[in-house]
Amino acid sequence: MEFIPTGSKKLLRVAGMEVTVWRSESSGYVFCYNPRPMQVRPIAYDAPEYREELALRNRMLRIPLGLDLFDEDLEVERGQWHFGLFDGDVLVGCVVAAPSGDKGVQIRQMAIDSDSQRTGRGRTLLESVEQMLIDRGVRHVVLHARDEAVGFYQKLGYTVVGEGFVEVGILHHHMKKQLCRP
Ligand SMILES: CC(C)(COP(=O)(O)OP(=O)(O)OC[C@H]1O[C@@H](n2cnc3c(N)ncnc32)[C@H](O)[C@@H]1OP(=O)(O)O)[C@@H](O)C(=O)NCCC(=O)NCCS
Repeated sequence: MEFIPTGSKKLLRVAGMEVTVWRSESSGYVFCYNPRPMQVRPIAYDAPEYREELALRNRMLRIPLGLDLFDEDLEVERGQWHFGLFDGDVLVGCVVAAPSGDKGVQIRQMAIDSDSQRTGRGRTLLESVEQMLIDRGVRHVVLHARDEAVGFYQKLGYTVVGEGFVEVGILHHHMKKQLCRP
């Protein structure tokens, strides 16, 4: 039987596990239990997972703009905090937090793999990372949001600050959020 992902692209989450809704042409909707837990965890700069993170970022954030992440000086990232969203062993999302002093970070390079977008994974990743940042003493977050991603960050409580500006050739907006314990 051939299964097709449902058009709503919504995954249900039950006790940390995903339940995927599929549509079968012959028998209507089917709920599939996905036993692989989604997990957000730090990625060490020297770990093999960092190479996977770079590949994901290049695929999602640079190649579509005609750029190559590997042309950039990545050495500065040694001092930044890297986080991945893993579906089992597969990296499906990532984000970097650059400490900026005075209990602040800049969130950068947020990306969810194209097959996984709009299924709640960006929210899962960023909300989990915010909690990890709080545990590290962070209280303020700033970021440069691509124009088309502003709505996503607004859903997570970020607000636009000031005028838009151009970065990597496209319109961006300064956004910020104050972190607090739930
Ligand atoms: C932007 C991105 C990180 C969002 O992750 P995602 O997994 O697709 O988003 P989610 O499914 O978790 O969405 C969370 C909420 O934000 C909304 N949302 C997601 N992307 C949005 C967008 N581009 N514009 C407006 N709202 C958006 C969703 O509808 C959802 O709302 P809900 O909670 O009311 O249902 C992801 O789409 C992505 O990697 N895009 C390409 C790279 C990129 O632009 N990165 C950001 C660079 S600043």
